[in-house]
Amino acid sequence: MWKNHAKFERHSLLLVIGILIVVSIGGMVEIAPLFYLESTIEEVKGIRPYTPLEQAGRDIYVREGCYVCHSQMIRPLRDEVERYGHYSLAAESMYDHPFQWGSKRTGPDLARVGEKYSDAWQVAHLKAPRSLVPESVMPPYAFLADKELRTDDAMDKIKALTRLGTPYTQAMIDNANADLAAQADPVSSGGTALKRRYGAKVAQRDFDGDPSRVTEMDALVAYLQMLGGLVDFSTYKAETGENRR
Ligand code: HEC
Repeated sequence: MWKNHAKFERHSLLLVIGILIVVSIGGMVEIAPLFYLESTIEEVKGIRPYTPLEQAGRDIYVREGCYVCHSQMIRPLRDEVERYGHYSLAAESMYDHPFQWGSKRTGPDLARVGEKYSDAWQVAHLKAPRSLVPESVMPPYAFLADKELRTDDAMDKIKALTRLGTPYTQAMIDNANADLAAQADPVSSGGTALKRRYGAKVAQRDFDGDPSRVTEMDALVAYLQMLGGLVDFSTYKAETGENRR
């Protein structure tokens, strides 16, 4: 073995071939088992697909490039957990297309920002970040409150997501527009059906403080306010998997 080692060191092509063989064995050992696992994501109670309004808000989040400054993944390190809360679970982003883990934090991580502030705070902050946090470098997004939300594509969006594996039911697809309208209107009678489909914890409110219409601000705040709140960590136990559905 050591006798032949000199050959490898002197012939670069032989060395490259040797490296390729060794690396592909390593790759196979790591990748092959994944084909035999049913799922690499532990299922966790409480995780559900986004409602049509939240999904619309999420698309605005992506459109506006909020991910350029904000990550959505709390790493299992002490400083992160003490600042942001329980570390992120794989299941919490299993319906994210595209995921928003991110690698850049000009602003804080937003994985658990849901219900950290009131809707009014979120709206005021998005309209003029420096009115609440004087040293903030976040740009203002006041125009979102004036822009009516495009809703004619709500059903198509949900349908497209089912193709990527998100388990929306036929009823969720058929009622996408009704569910979207109901969630942004606290007095809508459609709220009962919305909660039956997506769970009792779904927030049905006038998120932007303007009850006369559904704006992009409504959608974005609805999305921000549900971030990180689906799993009940007071009962979640990682090792025992007791929280699995
Ligand atoms: C240029 C970078 C930048 C961009 C782009 C940006 N933010 Fe921020 N954001 C910040 C910074 C810095 C802070 C911390 C200071 C503050 O609260 O304003 C922050 C704070 C926040 C907070 C409060 C977080 C907390 O825990 O206190 C929220 C919510 C938020 N941003 C949402 C958004 C959303 C939604 C978008 C896209 C529409 C966005 N940000 C775009 C830089 C940015």
